Amino acid sequence: MSWLRTHTCGELSAENKGEEVILNGWIATRRDLGGLIFIDLRDRYGITQIVFDETIKNLHEQAEQLRSEYVIGVKGTVLARDPETINPDMKTGEIEVEVGELIVYSRAQTPPFEIKDNITTNEEVRLRYRYLDLRRPIIQKNLLLRSEVYHTIRNFYHSKKFAEVETPFLMRSTPEGARDYLVPSRVNAGRFFALPQSPQTYKQLLMVSGFDRYFQIVKCFRDEDLRADRQPEFTQVDVEMSFINEDVIYSTHEDLMKKLWSTHLGLQVETPFPRLTYREAITKYGSDKPDLRFDVPIHDLSEIVAESDFKIFRSTVEKGGRVVAITIPGQGSLGRGALDRLTEKAKSETGAGGMIFMKHFEGQITCSVGKFLSEEMMRKMAGKASAGEGDLVLILAGPDPDVYEQMGGLRLIAGADFGLIDVTKTKFLWVTDFPLLEWSREDLRYYSLHHPFTSPRPEDLHLLDESPEKVNARAYDLVLNGSEIGGGSIRIHDTALQQKVFKILGIDEEEAEKKFGFLLNAFRYGAPPHGGIALGLDRIIMLMAGAQSLRDVIAFPKNQKAQSLMDNSPDEVDEHQLKELHIALRKSVAL
Ligand code: AMO
Repeated sequence: MSWLRTHTCGELSAENKGEEVILNGWIATRRDLGGLIFIDLRDRYGITQIVFDETIKNLHEQAEQLRSEYVIGVKGTVLARDPETINPDMKTGEIEVEVGELIVYSRAQTPPFEIKDNITTNEEVRLRYRYLDLRRPIIQKNLLLRSEVYHTIRNFYHSKKFAEVETPFLMRSTPEGARDYLVPSRVNAGRFFALPQSPQTYKQLLMVSGFDRYFQIVKCFRDEDLRADRQPEFTQVDVEMSFINEDVIYSTHEDLMKKLWSTHLGLQVETPFPRLTYREAITKYGSDKPDLRFDVPIHDLSEIVAESDFKIFRSTVEKGGRVVAITIPGQGSLGRGALDRLTEKAKSETGAGGMIFMKHFEGQITCSVGKFLSEEMMRKMAGKASAGEGDLVLILAGPDPDVYEQMGGLRLIAGADFGLIDVTKTKFLWVTDFPLLEWSREDLRYYSLHHPFTSPRPEDLHLLDESPEKVNARAYDLVLNGSEIGGGSIRIHDTALQQKVFKILGIDEEEAEKKFGFLLNAFRYGAPPHGGIALGLDRIIMLMAGAQSLRDVIAFPKNQKAQSLMDNSPDEVDEHQLKELHIALRKSVAL
């Protein structure tokens, strides 16, 4: 038997005083004060205090047997709490329900961790018992935010005439940088589907078909090395539009972000978002996803120190490298020990060979390699680095672009260590004009920086043959507080140009035809100019929720080894299943 509730556990207030109610929920806590037993009854909506009075003897005895996480139903009367027990922070804080009848729907074993927000339990244990972890209010809050965000996103695109179209999960592999998850076909022996790394080719085909504006909230699968902000299966808000340019994509998605932030966080986001080219982002902040919540830009000191007596500076500049600096305000008096620790961190975390520092303190400018530099040169360096009285300057020397990336890393370390990052800020940014290709020193070939369907900038087309590395792409990323939350591009819609790019990527005509013939063919039947973007929904929710990990905003996430600890997957399958799929495991694996 179960009772239909009249209210949820987050609903009752002083207005309900005197009413007979039915509540269902989980026991969050139980306090036995002898004559009275108090229970906090919890459901998704909140907590209501219920009380068992010893005057109802039979019931009081039953309540003595109740334990945490039992699921119960109670019938009772809403009463005002004693004034000294009122909790003004809760909607239900002024009342309690005096129980008249009780049903125990199910008992519970003692959970492996307490169902509350601030716990120190090892994450592996939380993931193994994810259904219990999901009972914790903070995780529920994150997932309910996520649910609301889906709703806002769908309404937003529908209101702008985007069509929501589902694309297949079983597809042929589309190389986009990561490895594919493969799915064997039982009825097509020896053949495999791949799970989509993204629906990139399908959404382009939908443009060829004339859908004009498409969106989908869709799972993508990538078998890549995991980091804190990556999951092997994650969710994209995938978008494609015809007859548009970059500005349309930017303004549409600025509007979407504005809407999400105002609807769900009550915050006004300023638009348009600032834009930096890839090269500007690298030379100014040492990253293609700079965190603009603190304004510590990189300064180039190369010209000033090119003629210095300090050999590392001189030879770096001679070899075409750069000597770059950031200025940390107010840290000019930092002691030797702290600077040594910072240097060690810079070396181990950014790959920098060493760090030089300069202090502007009590009218004096001193430098860790000061004996090689003239007073005048140090003044010029401080001036270029915008370092005033009381400031500390950190300097790195090295090849371009490596030294910028190292300085970008040091900038983030310094930002965190010296408390420079204003965590209350929301700093969106478009990074544009990515290079089309990057040269792999290991594989001795070009790879697409975004993906092979990205259009080169028309003014760079003439460079495609002779200096492909100089060609910039019509590609852009959306960055928020130092995280890449989206990426996209204007696409190639011309068969010949697409074939040419494939060729530069080392994909010959035969292979291109085999892998992408369907797309090349489609372009031969009238393809509109088109472009799009995909937003990383998990990352966006994580940032909106202020969560520390993607795992805290995904219902059933994988751990850092791409495993689901709860159902122990991936797992071995039995011989029969393998046979049906025409698969034999290599001996070394089977053992
Ligand atoms: P891209 O590969 O940049 O573009 O992916 C788009 C966005 O998805 C998010 N993302 C991830 N989030 C969690 N875990 C991962 N493993 C992961 N990988 C990516 C990021 C990223 O910005 N087809 C193109 C889009 C396009 O060109 O329209 C694509 O997939 O936030």
